[in-house]
Amino acid sequence: ETYEIAIIVGSLRNESWNRKLIEAMAALAPKTLSFRFIEIGDLPFYNQDLETDTPPTAWTRFRDEMKGVDGVLFATPEYNRTVPAVLKNAIDVGSRPYGASVWSGKPAGIVTASMGATGGFGANHHLRQSLVFLDMPTLQQPEAYIGKVQDVVTEDGVVDSSRDFLAGFMSAFAKLVEIHKS
Ligand code: FNR
Repeated sequence: ETYEIAIIVGSLRNESWNRKLIEAMAALAPKTLSFRFIEIGDLPFYNQDLETDTPPTAWTRFRDEMKGVDGVLFATPEYNRTVPAVLKNAIDVGSRPYGASVWSGKPAGIVTASMGATGGFGANHHLRQSLVFLDMPTLQQPEAYIGKVQDVVTEDGVVDSSRDFLAGFMSAFAKLVEIHKS
């Protein structure tokens, strides 16, 4: 059986290292997973006043896309020691209306990457706090705090010294998805 995984990237810029990294990691994943990038840059800021019978079309597009997937892989930078606002906004949009969260029960993986040494540890763990509440079984080991990401991602993949670790992360994530979907 194959499972469809949403990839959500917490950076909007074209040359995002997080996007490049997760693309390379998707290529290393077991064939039981297929991936679909789901975009979050066009979602209006969450505002309960807009939660009517006709919410913003981008919210509906996002929610509909998310409802169809079996799991979620987050790849995000750290902004000021926490998650970028655009990612938090997507989490909030997907969590509503009350009782119709797109996140509930979906297995999740978190990859954080930065050009510095700390690898987005703060963002990684702040994101985990939301996913606990949203009832998403989240991969705990191995952890993926990818520091100096510019030295990991290459034109056509990842450097040799990181490949086994990153492939191992994807195998562990695939196993988590299987456990929760079977
Ligand atoms: C950053 N950056 C950053 N890096 C980090 O390790 N910890 C941090 O708290 C922050 N804070 C931060 C805030 C803001 C507003 C910006 C724009 C950047 C640097 C960041 O990790 C770097 O720009 C990454 O390359 C961003 O990821 P993408 O866009 O390459 O995926």
